[in-house]
Amino acid sequence: PAQDVNAAAGQRALEVLVEGLRRLEYRGYDSAGIAVVAADGIAMRKKSGKLAELLDELSRNPVPDSVTGIGHTRWATHGGPTDVNAHPHIVDGGRLAVIHNGIIENYSPLKARLLERGHTFLSETDTEVAATLLGDIYRGLGDGEGSGSGGRLALAMQQLAQQLEGAFTLVATHADQPGVVVAARRNSPLVVGLGDGENFLGSDVSGFIDYTRRAVELGQNQVVTITADAVEITDFLGGPAEGREYLVDWDAAAAKKDGFASFMEKEINDQPDAVAQTLLGRNDGNGNLTLDELRVDPEVLKTINKIIVLACGTSAYAGQVAKYAIEHWCRIPTEVELSHEFRYRDPIVDEKTLIVSISQSGETMDTLMAVRYAREQGAKTVSICNTNGSTIPRESDAVLYTHAGPEIAVASTKAFLAQITATYLLGLYLAQLRGNLFQGQIKDILAELAKTPAKIATVIANAGQIKDLAHSMAETRTVLFLGRHVGYPVAMEGALKLKELAYIHAEGFAAGELKHGPIALIEEGQAVIVVVPSPRGRDSLHAKVVSNIQEVRARGAKTIVIAEEGDESVREFAEHVFYIPETSTLLAPLLATVPLQIFALELATAKGYDVDQPRNLAKSVTVE
Ligand code: F6R
Repeated sequence: PAQDVNAAAGQRALEVLVEGLRRLEYRGYDSAGIAVVAADGIAMRKKSGKLAELLDELSRNPVPDSVTGIGHTRWATHGGPTDVNAHPHIVDGGRLAVIHNGIIENYSPLKARLLERGHTFLSETDTEVAATLLGDIYRGLGDGEGSGSGGRLALAMQQLAQQLEGAFTLVATHADQPGVVVAARRNSPLVVGLGDGENFLGSDVSGFIDYTRRAVELGQNQVVTITADAVEITDFLGGPAEGREYLVDWDAAAAKKDGFASFMEKEINDQPDAVAQTLLGRNDGNGNLTLDELRVDPEVLKTINKIIVLACGTSAYAGQVAKYAIEHWCRIPTEVELSHEFRYRDPIVDEKTLIVSISQSGETMDTLMAVRYAREQGAKTVSICNTNGSTIPRESDAVLYTHAGPEIAVASTKAFLAQITATYLLGLYLAQLRGNLFQGQIKDILAELAKTPAKIATVIANAGQIKDLAHSMAETRTVLFLGRHVGYPVAMEGALKLKELAYIHAEGFAAGELKHGPIALIEEGQAVIVVVPSPRGRDSLHAKVVSNIQEVRARGAKTIVIAEEGDESVREFAEHVFYIPETSTLLAPLLATVPLQIFALELATAKGYDVDQPRNLAKSVTVE
């Protein structure tokens, strides 16, 4: 029931743990704790609340420094965010410390068995059950049992892992084996960092990026032992296993605020770069796309007769944008489904289905499970992902990485634009492969795409007016967002940003749907933000949206409009108009989303909220 793990062996465990937790805190921030191996046993401190609470506790009640330690920052599942429920959990007479992410599904029968054996429990967590069982197994083993540098602790961890059901990353250190940290993973993230005379474990590489960029990706059902100079990986039965080593393509500086007030503000400003990096090296300038990493046989891709995009939250909105582009360019029926709904409805999936999963973290459990299910049904799976070394790309047939760099703010911004960009590339690639578009058409779209980073920068530079508006609306209780076509997912994304950052009730609607019910919500002064398509665009999309604006205005709404530069026709129907540069209709989400992100950021800031760590959320949702 937890979010984050960071374990370290070095000459300065305390510093490594505190810095690691600082960097990982975005993954969960209900409570935090550390344990180091001291001369007379384990020294542990843990506190509910954000990491700052733990740091206060550590300055009031210091622990000795050490070469070995583990630390955790939590997003509560079993048991509320209290001091006792925080990790680490200490067992075996104060000599064994354990931290955990995930949910152990069979914790209840295990707990009953341990209670029968006379154990007592301090917390309500499934973690303490796993820790207690690990302690029992450890005590049952002899001194010299187990092999390699992990020895007895590694053997105990293997035996424990075999008994657990559900998702877990468990990390343990024992005072009898100082200098050793052992971890096990199933369905929960864990990566190894290879240092010089020191090694690390983390839920993601940001936990140790200050110390090394060399990382090792672990597989499913593996146990890893780290010491200062060795890393050993086995399966749950103790058989040898290997991880894939890779170099992290960003450094510690990329995960710093860079003088911005928040990570979110920085990441909004990173967006021109995130889109440019995602486009980089993927076409030759003449309309030929090369997606080298997309290792699915082109002949197979030619036979695909359906695409299902699987994702959650913001990533699912990127998928909705993708649907409009892919169907238009490739003429392949494309559905978008929330990952957690997908596999429970007996979906129709076969070898001719292409599954495109979209996940910033690459660890979202709902999406991982949906991808696994689709693969079992014979579908080909492509992952669009921002995190090298994560689970979803590893378990997919192919991956198209977004190169947005680390996204630390819990609310997704730059990853969203990079995801949309990657889906455009995928759509154009399929259109090229299947002959749906001429090379010249692809070249024109790519040329238009190449101009978007500079246009995004313009939107950001001209955001003064939207910031002022957001600050003037700090007392607003509800905001509606309307859009049509690709503007519809943009409207939903705008609403989600406002909900999660400013805790304001917000809904995104398809503008045409309003008259079928939601228009009843409109009353005098209701704020309605409308994403207006380009007047140069196809059909009568623009005219239809303008009519929808008039409909809400007539009922007293205060309308705020995002429109294309030069579109004077909306002025008379809007209290406020924000202009974005011209682009083609399908590419407009890359520009139209940005003012909505800034609006939510500024409104939340005006209300005094922590925009990087909104309440109740965690960056990487590794439970179902
Ligand atoms: C919202 C947000 C979430 C994520 C969702 C999926 O700002 O960040 O809705 O988009 O939890 O996460 P990933 O993309 O990591 O699978």
